[in-house]
Amino acid sequence: MDFLKPTRYVPMNRRRRIYEGKAKILYEGPEPGTLIQHFKDDATAFNAKKHAIIDGKGVLNNRISEFIFNHLNAMGIPTHFIRRMNMREQLIREVEIIPLEVVVRNVAAGSIATRLGIEEGTQLPRSIIEFYYKNDELNDPMVAEEHITAFGWATPQELDDVMALAIRVNDFLSGLFLGVGIRLVDFKIECGRLFEGDMMRIVVADEISPDSCRLWDINTNEKMDKDRFRRDMGGMLEAYQEVAKRLGILNENERPANTGPTLVQ
Ligand code: TMP
Repeated sequence: MDFLKPTRYVPMNRRRRIYEGKAKILYEGPEPGTLIQHFKDDATAFNAKKHAIIDGKGVLNNRISEFIFNHLNAMGIPTHFIRRMNMREQLIREVEIIPLEVVVRNVAAGSIATRLGIEEGTQLPRSIIEFYYKNDELNDPMVAEEHITAFGWATPQELDDVMALAIRVNDFLSGLFLGVGIRLVDFKIECGRLFEGDMMRIVVADEISPDSCRLWDINTNEKMDKDRFRRDMGGMLEAYQEVAKRLGILNENERPANTGPTLVQ
């Protein structure tokens, strides 16, 4: 069956699907050690008890995440990202995902506000890193470093690397968003092990987008992230578009390429 061997371009319907999550699908990539990350329009919250299709969300998150990961790479913060391929897909390096959601908080909101009785919007005395064990059946419970190392989800050295990455991402993202009038309240990253020959290093994986961050307008505190969906506020897509616009990713009235009339000179 040699004629079936994938060439560099594999039509979408013949690609091997490696994994499907709530908002993304991973396909086999064109080269060994690569994958294609496809952004869906699905929005979920509360461990998928709440679900909707938001037309165009995947396209926006693909672009916003591309923008952020390109900057991280350029700053020497290692990530899985190689390049965006099209409206919904990006080429990434295959990594072994560490089963943790790493949350960095600058301002109290969401679960920390509820758990510790802190009013939402309160500036935290310093940035706080929390870990959640990625396990849908258990509802991603919060865990301590002790659990992570005792159960072997990551070694102490790996966890040090994960925390160092999380702090660097926080410093970069806080500045990036502040520059466009947005407060980075908190965000979640996932990290993975990238194997290169005999070497292994921890890199930032998954996505960074308004799905995985809390972003508030500096002046009005208006929410520009997935809380609009979680809290039934409406205007989610418009908020994501505004984030993209402020980052300079979307120009006003941008249309997808090759659609609509073109000016004939
Ligand atoms: P939390 O306040 O609900 O714990 O969320 C903290 C941050 O992590 C917030 O920016 C949203 C993000 N997050 C995810 O990306 N995925 C999740 O499953 C959860 C619960 C939160």
